[in-house]
Amino acid sequence: MMNFENGFFTINTKHTTYAFHVIETGHLEHLYYGPTTDLESIKAHVTVPQWEPGNTALYSQNSGTHRSLESTALEASFIGKSDIREPLIEAICADGSTTLDFVYKDYEITDGMKELRALPNAHDGSKTLTITLEDKNHGLTLELYYTVFYETDCIARSLKLINTSSDTVRVERLMSILLDFDRVGFSTTNFVGGWAKEMNRTVTPVKSGAVVHSSFTGTSSSRCNPLFFVHDENASEEAGLVYGFNLMYSGNHYHSVSTTIYGQTRVVSGINPTNFAWILAANDEIEAPWQIMTVSDVGFRNASLNFHHFVRNHISPKKWSYKKRPVLLNSWEANYFDINEEKLLEQAAIAKDLGIELFVMDDGWFGHRNDDTSSLGDWFVNKEKLPNGLEGLSEKMAALGIGFGVWVEPEMICVDSELYKAHPDWAIAIPGMEHSEARNQRMLDLCNPAVRDYIVEAMTKVFSAKGVTYIKWDMNRILTDYYSPYLDSAHQQEVSHRYVLGLYEVLDNLTKAFPELLIEGCSAGGNRFDLGVLCYYPQIWGSDNTDAVCRMTIQDGYTYGYPQTTYTNHVSVCPNHQTGRTVSLETRYAVASMGNLGYELNLTQASDEEKTIIEREIMEYKNQQELLLFGDLTRSSSDSENISWSISNSDKSKVITMDASIKDEKASLTIKVTY
Ligand code: DGJ
Repeated sequence: MMNFENGFFTINTKHTTYAFHVIETGHLEHLYYGPTTDLESIKAHVTVPQWEPGNTALYSQNSGTHRSLESTALEASFIGKSDIREPLIEAICADGSTTLDFVYKDYEITDGMKELRALPNAHDGSKTLTITLEDKNHGLTLELYYTVFYETDCIARSLKLINTSSDTVRVERLMSILLDFDRVGFSTTNFVGGWAKEMNRTVTPVKSGAVVHSSFTGTSSSRCNPLFFVHDENASEEAGLVYGFNLMYSGNHYHSVSTTIYGQTRVVSGINPTNFAWILAANDEIEAPWQIMTVSDVGFRNASLNFHHFVRNHISPKKWSYKKRPVLLNSWEANYFDINEEKLLEQAAIAKDLGIELFVMDDGWFGHRNDDTSSLGDWFVNKEKLPNGLEGLSEKMAALGIGFGVWVEPEMICVDSELYKAHPDWAIAIPGMEHSEARNQRMLDLCNPAVRDYIVEAMTKVFSAKGVTYIKWDMNRILTDYYSPYLDSAHQQEVSHRYVLGLYEVLDNLTKAFPELLIEGCSAGGNRFDLGVLCYYPQIWGSDNTDAVCRMTIQDGYTYGYPQTTYTNHVSVCPNHQTGRTVSLETRYAVASMGNLGYELNLTQASDEEKTIIEREIMEYKNQQELLLFGDLTRSSSDSENISWSISNSDKSKVITMDASIKDEKASLTIKVTY
């Protein structure tokens, strides 16, 4: 699985190999990443020290060789020592210099995954290789981690920068990986979008210079998901070399794929360096989020399946990985903020009769929230709407025979709230400056431990309400006005990263305290759909767009990196509230059934015929739920006109296929059983 032999490090998963070695200068030369190979073939990738004529620089006059790091494939590289490509880390040292020169010190192989302290970790890793590097001039230490997930053909990479010097250092860039390929001719595939139009697959050839995919919303974002691929220009579902990358991080991220005149391609990926800096005092350390990598020499389908298996077995909370999720009815599109106990019970009673297992009360139940202008932060029940409180309502739901779930948006505060009156300094805002408002709400300052404690306390009260079995955790704005009233001026460039670390701490506390609760993430739909938050909650509302035709493309995007257990899909009313389009219930169900099924419409207004169809479809879903959720989902076609997904069991004796035509605005399901 992991070997150190004659100076060569090789890391093997079931079908892939990754290899590098230490060169004469003490740097790590990257040798190979691809289908399984042996040491002899790896050695063939070793380059003789090369110095390109003209105006390249020699790394060192005294190393006994003529080598320029600019034309060497590396595992880690920094500015100032002859490599002029994008660096892994940038830091300003006490003497003002930014030149770092980390060279090999030693290595260690340990069982399991190396656990990062403040960032999410995958579970059940096989082994970890730690390489320790030392900076020659400033006394800093860098640990590079490689964890193998053998069966799923994934490798996780991360690193830790430790300030072993006696001076403070300002870290200005902290990538998770740097990976050099000794070839060009790649394209990238990534997933871009916005509100209600998430995950549009985009292919970009890397011709010259750099192709950058990044996001700066404070979350992992609907603008650019952290999932991306680097692949042969003509790679297809079944053919071609495809490298997959997904950063386990829920904040601003950055990925660059660049080429050089010397025929190389460099991939760097990690926290977005824009408006990021971290003050690293002596003895302090900073960790980079895990980057998950896979490689397939038989196209995208296999790379996606590796990611699906990885997420199911190593990211999703273990309790939920292979557990069926309840078919639910969400109150949002049927009622928006206009809810009360009587209305909700009426809708829930019909839902129960049709086979729905859980009723989710969305926004509008707390404070004086009748629209989006107030009350976030005031997590106490609005007694005019729910005279018997959460528990009174959940008891009545239980009497109907249906489960009960509640919507919350814990990271937010409205200026019009009791919380803001008591703690105006708990909001992210720059004192004395006009705030850029979004949906009339501000983000709470999760850099502040008192704020994190408040969220845990307030949510503990909501989550403990008897009968609540599900929580929808929403987050509806992007980060602006980067400023924490809690931090001093020297640490303000740490705000976006500290926010994400604060979120993980809160989620960690709450999910440990409420392990039985099913939590569904949401961020105005898919504005925070990533492997970081998926470590805490198993499913996410992938888009506010419930139009089945738009969902074909959106869900297709998710299939590239995430198994169908991670997204929920709702059948909603037609004409659709986002697009005005009308399609059949069959089409709406066919698309929504390819994941966690839910409904989001006013059942008191549904006709008898519609109710009969819905009841039949829910029964069909439940009959096939095991396969629909835990089978292998593959794409047979995904282009701008036709989308087709198949979900099969392990011996492929049973296959459910969803065929959709975007042009004809139709989708249908077929089930094929081979005896
Ligand atoms: C945005 C979510 O994506 C919707 O589903 C709904 O929960 C609203 N927020 C409620 O404000």
